[in-house]
Amino acid sequence: MRRALNTGWAKAAAFAALSTPAVWMAWQGYRDELGPNPIEAITRGTGIWTLRVLLISLAITPARKLLGLPELIRFRRLAGLFAFFYATLHLFTYLWLDKFFAWPEIWQDVVKRRFITAGMLAFALLVPLAATSTAGWIRRLGGRRWQALHRLVYISAIAGVVHYLWLVKAGVIKPGIYAAALGVLMAWRALDWFRRRRA
Ligand code: HEM
Repeated sequence: MRRALNTGWAKAAAFAALSTPAVWMAWQGYRDELGPNPIEAITRGTGIWTLRVLLISLAITPARKLLGLPELIRFRRLAGLFAFFYATLHLFTYLWLDKFFAWPEIWQDVVKRRFITAGMLAFALLVPLAATSTAGWIRRLGGRRWQALHRLVYISAIAGVVHYLWLVKAGVIKPGIYAAALGVLMAWRALDWFRRRRA
């Protein structure tokens, strides 16, 4: 298992798995199978996959430690960059297909609709993380500062979940499940931090 995780094939498989939702949405769009409201379907599809992939990227460190598989770290950056990719598709679906780049209207949305404010915050926090994801930036910033900066991912994920909770009109079960998953991942990290500090 550990040897397999170290291969280029494992990386290629992870890449293929993480691109599948985008390829599937594009295929459905091409076949005109996105339903009566394709823009809404793309907005929802890209939104939910942003959140899922963000949570996958946050689950890698706990999984690595709990399963004793340090090799999983190889997939963290990939997952993080895919989360940013889906977030960018999601944002552009809104800016372009939904609002046709009508900036005054977009600005009104950002300041007046709280779920859009939370979404924008979640996206804005991912930008510096994606921009500094290379080995060159880790070297330039130094490990500690880079790690501190990359803790912004937790705030982005919280803002993403809040965005989801605020946008649903009825039934908080689905966003609640994502909020609970994020809660578990954050609680594990807090416990791990305390354990390491005491040690
Ligand atoms: C990291 C950033 C973001 C995450 C994790 C995220 C997540 C989500 C999720 C989970 C949904 C619901 C999908 C569903 O109903 O199944 C959604 C919908 C939506 N998001 Fe985002 N989002 C983010 C950023 C943004 C941004 C920046 C905007 C626009 C400024 C935005 C606008 C929307 C809109 C318009 C909807 C559809 C609302 C509706 O159906 O009424 N999101 N997003």
